[in-house]
Amino acid sequence: MPASGALAAAGPGWVRGGGRERERTAAATALVFSARCDAVRMCRLPWSSAVAVRRLVVVEVDIRLRARVIAEERLGSLAPRWAHVRGVAAAAELMIADLDVTDANAVVAAAWLHDVGYAPSAARTGFHPVDGAKLVRESGFSELVVSLVAFHSGAEFEAHERGQESLLAAFTRPPQDLLDRVTYCDLTIGPDGMPICAEDRIAEVLHRYGADDPVHRAMTAARAPLLAAVARVEHVGAKT
Ligand SMILES: [Fe+2]
Repeated sequence: MPASGALAAAGPGWVRGGGRERERTAAATALVFSARCDAVRMCRLPWSSAVAVRRLVVVEVDIRLRARVIAEERLGSLAPRWAHVRGVAAAAELMIADLDVTDANAVVAAAWLHDVGYAPSAARTGFHPVDGAKLVRESGFSELVVSLVAFHSGAEFEAHERGQESLLAAFTRPPQDLLDRVTYCDLTIGPDGMPICAEDRIAEVLHRYGADDPVHRAMTAARAPLLAAVARVEHVGAKT
């Protein structure tokens, strides 16, 4: 079974079962070990000479698993938010074929974690990209993942509307092409986790938040840049 098959076989509820940390760790360890075995078997290499392959697969699986575990821990009980996050992560898995391992992992991990700042347990400033990015940083993810969470989906516009630009100053802006991918996934997956066109998604957000809400005002200002990001991603996708 390939590494991705090991994850799929584990099913969407593999981290449940009482929610105890020890069980989650055991499940993650089992999946990583399975991925190691898959790598060796697929490459027909003896265990001792497949170190590089094993290391690559283990790191790849581990980062994505950790992101999913934390996302589910914080958002798993929040329907439909969790459905949306799962949909965004699934979309991100389809957007990384042309990226190197580090960037691919960062995009998928950020997709899992992009809304973790909405979790009541993560709320500090009330500005979810920043609250999420702080949690992601404290959880030991790379600064690339942290920055993707901090700046996703036009966060700068909302920071401006809230008068909280200084909060984002604690984070480095990520590479635009990677940020575009996370934003694209967020804008093309609806609140219920189902695909939606970006224009309808923006209209849905505008409808959900009243005209006086900073989210509404930010989305209005960000509409054109966000649609431009979606167009850039679709252009890259059309070429590959
Ligand atoms: Fe989202």
